[in-house]
Amino acid sequence: MKPSVKKSEQSRILSEVALGNIPPDMVITNGSVFNVFTREFIRGQSIWIKDGAIAYVGPDLDPPGGERRVVIDAKGMVVLPGLIEGHTHISNRYGIEEFVRYVIPTGVTTVVTETIELATVVGREGIEYLVRGLEGQPIRFYYTVAPLCGLTSSEEINAPANEDLLPLLQSPRCLGMGEIYWSNIFLKELQGERVRELASIAVEQGKRVEGHTAGASGRKLQAYTCFGPSSCHEPITEDEVLERLRLGYWVMIREGSIRRELAGVRGIFDKGIDFRRLVLSTDGVDPEDFLNEGYLDASLRRALALGISPGLLYQMVTLNVAEHFRLDHLLGSLSPGRMADAVIIPSPEEFTPQWVICHGKVIFRDGQNMVEPKRVFFPDSMFATVKVHGYSVPPLPARGKVRAMELVSRLVTREDIIDLGDPEGSKDVIMALALNRSGSEEGFVGFLKGFGLQRGAYGSTMCWDTPDIIVVGCDTRSMETVVERLREIGGGGVYAIGEEVVAEFPAPLCGLASLKPMKEVGKEVKRLNQCLMENGARWEKPILTVDTLGSPAIPHLRITHRGYVRLRDREVLRVQA
Ligand SMILES: [Fe+2]
Repeated sequence: MKPSVKKSEQSRILSEVALGNIPPDMVITNGSVFNVFTREFIRGQSIWIKDGAIAYVGPDLDPPGGERRVVIDAKGMVVLPGLIEGHTHISNRYGIEEFVRYVIPTGVTTVVTETIELATVVGREGIEYLVRGLEGQPIRFYYTVAPLCGLTSSEEINAPANEDLLPLLQSPRCLGMGEIYWSNIFLKELQGERVRELASIAVEQGKRVEGHTAGASGRKLQAYTCFGPSSCHEPITEDEVLERLRLGYWVMIREGSIRRELAGVRGIFDKGIDFRRLVLSTDGVDPEDFLNEGYLDASLRRALALGISPGLLYQMVTLNVAEHFRLDHLLGSLSPGRMADAVIIPSPEEFTPQWVICHGKVIFRDGQNMVEPKRVFFPDSMFATVKVHGYSVPPLPARGKVRAMELVSRLVTREDIIDLGDPEGSKDVIMALALNRSGSEEGFVGFLKGFGLQRGAYGSTMCWDTPDIIVVGCDTRSMETVVERLREIGGGGVYAIGEEVVAEFPAPLCGLASLKPMKEVGKEVKRLNQCLMENGARWEKPILTVDTLGSPAIPHLRITHRGYVRLRDREVLRVQA
């Protein structure tokens, strides 16, 4: 293919800069530059930058001419390529602008985000408006198109037809199809056919298919791999990491708010294997963690504290992820022709960004952001998505044997049959409601064991992979108060006791995100989590537990407005055992 005139002219200008015929407009001088290809920290290097791209990296510190150029003296410091976050969810209770504002100081200059959240509620326009909001920001964004995998087809009602996703998939900013749960790819009939076809389209378009292989192994994992996924961020043991690396996956070790795997898979770094397909990513960071610890920078600091080699780690967040997404001709290294994205840190072992440069522009220095995020627009319709009117919780059986979801960890449930007449067996059992908020108001009430809540009810519209509201509660009055309040505030999370709303987090954008400043968002979310824990909830950050009860990403018994769903066979189950 012929290169475009623009690209070829840009290459010519960069080559002239390297030859000393045209002055650069920015120089990072005298730093110890990390070479991602050889894993060397090379001292006394200078980087010459022109029009946002790198022309030269080497020992010639003093390029000719150009008195007005920006010079950054990196003496005694280390220059890395800007970090690439390979897998995240930016709609994580906050808006795009706040995400950008808080990511800039972390040294991340490129973000690849999933697009599932808004789309689950409003369909294709959720992806389109999000993508529009990512354009023109001071850091670089890419996205993947969400396959919208629900528990049953009724959670996929907003999933666009594959042909409607094609223009989004074909955009140069789209790197592929977003994470696809392995169990969904094997589903029969339309639900499975749709995602299998989307995966094929993505592969045919030369794009990536982002995998999600939690718990899969052996032949099942290999059968799933036949559909083309090339990354997975779900391994939680060394063996799982190794099995996927051997199958050719780029393994993204997750270290974020949902789970932190680094400590558990630390031993992998002591094996004599090739690490070039390992990536470190967050899979999303919640507002509290963002404020208290940071983002991918915090993950890196934890990895460094575990004694993992800095060079290896910096490859994992630069070149390795760029190669996975076939972007290494543009990103992931400090070398000629690549984008001038860099982060300057005091030493290899100390990841505290002093300068951050994106596309040849200083965006952070002296502890300050040098740029403002671009304002993002969403239409009014995306702020009116909680369509319920005076819902009454139907009665549940008071005795006999019933089916319940039992939490065996913060996120994982199992199917349990309990006898409501047995005081021991029915201890710590509360109600769980899933309610369609798209207008039909179909609801299902079941039982949840092991959440710990002693009084009141908590409900959320921020649920993963479903447009349902999910409410867990000790009494129907509190649950109804929660539903009504969620309607009034346009969604989010609400904790109520009786008719009193005790704490709330309004998230009016699709019922998923707040557009308030990050500090306020963090404060409201923290208060909600605290309130739940003060009233008995036993899991850390219990609002996430509720958000995930309707997701097929996590085993075993989940809930929808049609009933419980057993993940293994997707059978819809009633309360009566
Ligand atoms: Fe994810």
